[in-house]
Amino acid sequence: MMNATNALDPRPLPPRFDSPLHFGSVRLASRFNLAPLAGFTNVALRRTIRELGGLGLATTDLVNARAILEGKSKTMELLATRPDDQPLAVQIFGSNADEMVSAAQWLQDRGVPIVDINMGCPVRKVVRTGGGSALMCDPAGTVKLLERVVRAVVIPITVKMRLGWDDENVTAPFFARLFEEVGVAAITIHGRTREQGFSGKVNLEGIRRVVEAVRSIPVVGNGDVKSVADAAAMFQKTGCHAIAVGRGALANPWIFRQLDSWLNTGDPGVRASWNERLDFMERHFRRLVEWRGEHFGCLQFRRVATWYARSLRTGKAIQQRLVLVSSPAMFDEIVEEIRQRGEPADWSERDLSEYHVAVPSGPMSHW
Ligand SMILES: Cc1cc2nc3c(=O)[nH]c(=O)nc-3n(C[C@H](O)[C@H](O)[C@H](O)COP(=O)(O)O)c2cc1C
Repeated sequence: MMNATNALDPRPLPPRFDSPLHFGSVRLASRFNLAPLAGFTNVALRRTIRELGGLGLATTDLVNARAILEGKSKTMELLATRPDDQPLAVQIFGSNADEMVSAAQWLQDRGVPIVDINMGCPVRKVVRTGGGSALMCDPAGTVKLLERVVRAVVIPITVKMRLGWDDENVTAPFFARLFEEVGVAAITIHGRTREQGFSGKVNLEGIRRVVEAVRSIPVVGNGDVKSVADAAAMFQKTGCHAIAVGRGALANPWIFRQLDSWLNTGDPGVRASWNERLDFMERHFRRLVEWRGEHFGCLQFRRVATWYARSLRTGKAIQQRLVLVSSPAMFDEIVEEIRQRGEPADWSERDLSEYHVAVPSGPMSHW
């Protein structure tokens, strides 16, 4: 029987949408997308989350357009996908229009259904190339660049951006209108400025201005959505057509299924159980190994091992072994031990505030 504390609450009334969501020619099965989180949202995690249901579109980590054209092996790993990892947008960054055009064509030729252009990344490595959020500082050049990319391919081109460079330069509504005019198919807007980094609250009013600036393309609201209540506020206060969830999906990979169910029925359903979390960790690990091989798969897993240990409340001793996992055999042994010990008596998914994702911080110039 469903236990009352296991229901997701509160349950605000969901908005109603009359027609399905499309990004250009691509129809999305849900209005909840996975926002790219470089270092995490690789093929292994995407497939494992998709299996839980409710996900509309996933996006790769951002990849350098030039590195695609050079065929760099690390970049090719980021582009790795599987038939069960669809629909997928590949996110590219760069500032050279020729390279962006060629990269989009290259991706189209290999069957990628959507190319997303990153205009939001505040990290120095990206901004100093003139890409990421630096694109927002050169309006004419950036609109031209987008126009060229859109014209060079038939697949939808989308954009992900922040509200602007800083509070004095909230340029996203201006860009959104121009992007729509040159044929961009959808816009995802993280409701913070570049200067804000990841601090402060997401500015829903700013996202609303972007929604109001476009005529008919979908605007995807993004930032700090971790619950049904957050999603309800995002829809209600911004009028956005869809929502992208990043960090909230790492803490709760079931969030897409829950939000999609809430939107369609008013009821988000139940929270994930401790056993489901353990199974999820196992499937994620296997796919990391499938993707990168035993050695690098284990190294990738170490980055998320602490979260899993905390969310399962394995205790320190197991956590310390999990973060040093070096082979599938060792992983299996640890999982067996976690299973033997079983679910802690007072385990609750609500303790997950500890499930923290590190974000770039400190002086902007040091990012
Ligand atoms: C670790 C990390 C990596 C990120 N990598 C990307 C990226 O590759 N491309 C991108 O457009 N945004 C990236 N973002 C921004 C997220 O997609 C998202 O806009 C932001 O985290 C706000 O949404 P959230 O509160 O749901 O996480 C990253 C954010 C974090 C924390």
